[in-house]
Amino acid sequence: EAAIPFHAPRQAGVTFPQPAATQLLAFDLPQASAAADRDVLRTLLGAWTRTLSSAVTGPPPDPRLRGAGTARLTSLVGVGPALAARLNLAVPAGLADLPPFPGDRLDPARGGGDLLVQLCAEDRWTLAVVGELLTSAARTAGAAPRWAQSGFLPPTEPGATPRNLFGFKDGTANPDEGAAKQWVWGPPGPHENGTVLVYRRIRMDTAAFAALPEDGQNLVMGRRGGDGSPLTGTAEHDDPDIYAKRPDGSYVIPATAHVRLTSPRLDGGARMLRRGYSYDDGPGDRGLLFCAFMRDPGQFTRVQNRLAARDALNPFLEHTASAVAYVLPGAPEGTTLGEHL
Ligand code: HEM
Repeated sequence: EAAIPFHAPRQAGVTFPQPAATQLLAFDLPQASAAADRDVLRTLLGAWTRTLSSAVTGPPPDPRLRGAGTARLTSLVGVGPALAARLNLAVPAGLADLPPFPGDRLDPARGGGDLLVQLCAEDRWTLAVVGELLTSAARTAGAAPRWAQSGFLPPTEPGATPRNLFGFKDGTANPDEGAAKQWVWGPPGPHENGTVLVYRRIRMDTAAFAALPEDGQNLVMGRRGGDGSPLTGTAEHDDPDIYAKRPDGSYVIPATAHVRLTSPRLDGGARMLRRGYSYDDGPGDRGLLFCAFMRDPGQFTRVQNRLAARDALNPFLEHTASAVAYVLPGAPEGTTLGEHL
């Protein structure tokens, strides 16, 4: 299988069909002065561009990466809101940290950051080695690692939707190319090949959810766990009809079901591109690395406000970390990530 080119108008890590494993890495700049931080940023993005492009297309930047071109390595690099504000960078106007939500239990040491990298590949080896190279380039340039988080997917047939740790297909109702142009990528102009990543580390009480009867699980979600079909349809990709009612007047998809509260119909059609991974950090700490791409983080905020108020999933969830980053446009051949900043 051919390697996925690094040099392209858009960074491949946003839309490429999900490889089995991910590694997220966040870094902080020294905050000595804006001028010094700008130098660190320029040096770092140059070094990361070289490392990532050679990790994909060779020559391998490290002998341990021989053959990594077939690991379906993809990456994305993003800039956090605080750094963008400090250095007055040319980022989308709406880039900002998320407001607090009711029920949040956020650990600042596992979220935020001036720079965010997401690597994806079929194997953990490639992620570990490339992650190490990016981290040492960051240290050399003067940046410090802030947090890292690894995640994985179950074995999934090509083209099928992967499941999360509740056993439900996750990523079914994602925008197509046309909708993504409006809701995921920036408007025509300097950000049209950029997007915003919202990351939430969400702990899931998998045992409590598994203890629900199957139809109870389906009512919480508004879809069937087995085939992912909405309660108002028969096939996975049938559109959930949140207005359909039973003869007794109640909604088929209950008022607090997850797919009702996240429905674009409640939000002027707004969509986000969800590309989550599961994580397992030991007993009692497993769940979802919610990763979603959108034009403006306000799209997440509107949905999460509805969820935090009454999502039937809430008793099984705890948001433990959060980050926002402007995912830079790609670096076409001969250019460096972030040149337009
Ligand atoms: C849909 C699970 C958190 C936004 C879904 C679906 C599942 C699911 C199973 C239906 C299948 C699909 O369309 O992918 C979960 C779990 C979560 C979680 C287990 C927490 C661990 C969130 C959060 C948000 C969100 C925090 C955003 C604030 C959405 C959206 C849809 C969706 C927008 C698609 C709605 C539609 O277009 O029909 N989620 N989700 N989810 N979820 Fe979540």
